[in-house]
Amino acid sequence: MFFQEDKQSIIDNAFNAYTDLIGGKPFTIAWAPGRIEVLGNHTDYNAGTALSAAIDLGLCFCMAPSSQSYIRAIAIDLERTAYLNTFDDLKVPGAKWATYIKGVFYHLQRHTKQTIDEVNCTFSSSIPIGGGLSSSAALEVAAATAVTSLLSLNVEPKEIAKICQKAEHQFIGTNCGLLDQITSIFGRENGLIHTDFQTLEISDVTLPPDIDFLVVNPHVEHNLADSPYNERRECCEHATKQLNELLPYPVNTLSDVSLEDFEQVKHKIDKYAAQRATHIIGEIDRVAKGVQAAKLGDMEAFGELLYQSHQSSIDNFENSCPELDHVVNAARNAGALGARLSGGGFGGVVIVMMYADRMQTVMNDMEEELFHLDIHPDLIRTTPSAGAHIIL
Ligand code: GLA
Repeated sequence: MFFQEDKQSIIDNAFNAYTDLIGGKPFTIAWAPGRIEVLGNHTDYNAGTALSAAIDLGLCFCMAPSSQSYIRAIAIDLERTAYLNTFDDLKVPGAKWATYIKGVFYHLQRHTKQTIDEVNCTFSSSIPIGGGLSSSAALEVAAATAVTSLLSLNVEPKEIAKICQKAEHQFIGTNCGLLDQITSIFGRENGLIHTDFQTLEISDVTLPPDIDFLVVNPHVEHNLADSPYNERRECCEHATKQLNELLPYPVNTLSDVSLEDFEQVKHKIDKYAAQRATHIIGEIDRVAKGVQAAKLGDMEAFGELLYQSHQSSIDNFENSCPELDHVVNAARNAGALGARLSGGGFGGVVIVMMYADRMQTVMNDMEEELFHLDIHPDLIRTTPSAGAHIIL
């Protein structure tokens, strides 16, 4: 069962906790959403493309200056308080959530040369933690949005995304791409964003208004820092090097290789490298086809690409798991347009796309089929929503 708290009650939680536990009122309140990855799996760090959306689950971050020479952060939902500084690059012992905040402030401070040390903050979130909806990117982006506003730091939004990514690499140890942060910042209401990670160009992709998304969380543990995420990234880099030696043009990233060229040479590279590259190059191709299908309003074709993407996760990237596969099968059996794992994989969530008027039937049928497999997921209806913004 998933109780979806609305945005206003999350804001109230963060605000009231600020006045109750810290005293006074926050000077700045920022909101950053979670995200769904609709197509383009693991393409971001391969300089490929992806289609994604910010969602209506998000995180509210309240902040004001303090007279103490440290940062006090309160995670309301976890009932935890941490005291941080930004003069060293050590993790906050026993508090991963606080390490995210510290990492972001540390890198913002280095980037802007402005000291970030005397602030109080509280935050609350409606995004399930570790559920594959980028709860951590929302925390990073919300913290960065709040502090840049409070201290009038002049940092471009794309730079904020990169700073958050740096924090994740250095402080957490996940060598993630930029998908989560870019989507949390640039997501837009009622539509997808298309990001080219080579150029960081972002454009809107409109879907017909009768399309709805469902997030299905079968509760498989998901922690990218402990998963084979970094190993997959290294394998893609290895494939890139091998392809560079085989193809007559420079291959700096897998996005430099067309599907046709790859087909000609893939048997000449290592087995795993070939499998992982098949997924990435295939995903980039599916994103391009998805953009075309969306332009034509052909949602059956678009949905089929989602199913293909999931199959490729199973066959090539090996980042799915039986629970996610059952969910995708149940979605297909229930007549959904498309379904696939969304995000890093190795657990996390499945997104299901369907016509809005089919939502209830699809949900009922899926729940019934999964119940017989002893899978009791949370089903969360979700709508593409606006990216991070200042509320106060
Ligand atoms: C995680 C990472 C992203 C991206 C996706 C997979 O969400 O944080 O950078 O690589 O996995 O597409």
